Amino acid sequence: MEPWGRLVVLAVAITAVVSSPLANKLQPGKEWPTRNSVQQPQDVWLQLQTSTTDASDLSTTELPPEEQTDAAIEAIEVTTEENNVILRTSDSENDPLEAVVPTEESNDILVKSLEESEKVDYSGAQVWKVPTSSSKVRSLLGNLRSRNMISPWGGNHSYIDLLVKPEAINNVSQELRKQSVPFDVIIVDLQKRIDEENPPLDENEIELQDRQGHRMTWKQYHRLTDIHGFMDYLAKTYPRIVSVNTIGKSFLGRDLKVLRISDGKPTNKAVFIDGGIHAREWISPATVTFFINQFAENFDEESDDVKNIDWYFLPVVNPDGYEYTHQVDRLWRKNRRPAGTRQCLGTDLNRNFGHHWGGKGSSGNPCSDIYRGSKAFSEPESKAVSDFILNSAAEFKAYLTYHSYGQYLLYPWGYDDAVPPDYKDLDIVGKEIAQEIQRVGGSKYTVGSSSGVLYPASGGSDDWAKAQGIKYSYTIELSDTGRYGFILPTSFIEPVAKESLAGLRVLARKLNEA
Ligand code: ARG
Ligand code: ZN
Repeated sequence: MEPWGRLVVLAVAITAVVSSPLANKLQPGKEWPTRNSVQQPQDVWLQLQTSTTDASDLSTTELPPEEQTDAAIEAIEVTTEENNVILRTSDSENDPLEAVVPTEESNDILVKSLEESEKVDYSGAQVWKVPTSSSKVRSLLGNLRSRNMISPWGGNHSYIDLLVKPEAINNVSQELRKQSVPFDVIIVDLQKRIDEENPPLDENEIELQDRQGHRMTWKQYHRLTDIHGFMDYLAKTYPRIVSVNTIGKSFLGRDLKVLRISDGKPTNKAVFIDGGIHAREWISPATVTFFINQFAENFDEESDDVKNIDWYFLPVVNPDGYEYTHQVDRLWRKNRRPAGTRQCLGTDLNRNFGHHWGGKGSSGNPCSDIYRGSKAFSEPESKAVSDFILNSAAEFKAYLTYHSYGQYLLYPWGYDDAVPPDYKDLDIVGKEIAQEIQRVGGSKYTVGSSSGVLYPASGGSDDWAKAQGIKYSYTIELSDTGRYGFILPTSFIEPVAKESLAGLRVLARKLNEA
């Protein structure tokens, strides 16, 4: 061929590649390939990795709910839940429940007017740690709860952290003393802790913030717009490796934004990480965004173990709840969708996933903090996560969901006292992660199955992910172990996130070894 001819061929080839929409697939706003999408040349590797299992087979995971017999009143039972002891009677109409929250219209204007007028005040409320080993204590707590004097916060099989309302302090302490139940007052004035938790940045920090092209820091807990703005900034700044997609909308119409970090190698494995399923667990989105920042800003310096993975991050699964904790009630847990009954609203998204949905440790009562929703994936937020994972061409090898608090590394199953056949693999990797966290930051994590270490709780995202064949599925309960609980001061963000990142790198290494 003549030299000119060669040049022309080369020019045509380059033009074809550059102008192809496929060449831009990592740019912001471009959709990532899905399982049944037309094959895209650059994504052949993804297709190759996809197993022969059809997505439709994978979606049939939910079991019918255990019908709760509303009529018969059973003995009151206290179930320790994440950060909750749930008192259940089978008469859900009379269930001793969370503070009743007025139903709102689903619009932000109303939320805003609430923000100004009715921020929930926790002045004088305390948090106590109480041992729950004896059934006498459990039934006493059930009773106090039914009289709306206490509300569960955190705990496991042996103790519980209780929020004690100001007007109930004398009464509750008398009752506990009468039964000679020892207790520790962990937080003397909850509102004071809330007021001190998230102070404004100082001048130097603001100056730094103003120079960096986004508003995100790890010296403060940020609002959703800062988090989303940060994600978009990274996609714009590092288009070769970072891209952002909105995988759905929350009930109130907020974006569910996933950020992907990938160098596009066909042999990469995939990991999905989420945070903020529970609104009040602020350290979770802060930690997940810290991971994002580290990998995106310093990708070239990361190890091959990290670079050999396509990372997908959804830092705020529950944006409506998250904003609500900033604007109205710092201790809100659920999403903000009206349940359609009486005065209560919100579904616990971590009881709404479709593996053994409706079983133990979930409630059919919309007023409960562990309300499971009307059916599996009744909520747009959990549905979006499952649709995304099922439809993605990526074959996820790990699913990590970050919560707080308690310092636990939990693997399935959560729905009942059972473990998957390969639980030893999860236990070994979990323990290596925990060991590294402790080595780097000093925090001690307890590793074990959810139901074994904490309590059974069905409908969790980790169980669902595991049931889809994602081998390394973990719930990570970040710091602390109860001194501050959900109201973890901002000075903890960096140390918690750093040690967690060290743990994440261990996972990356293990996945590459496998
Ligand atoms: N704190 C979490 C919750 O209560 C623990 C979830 C553990 N996983 C599970 N499937 N139960 O939602
Ligand atoms: Zn949680």
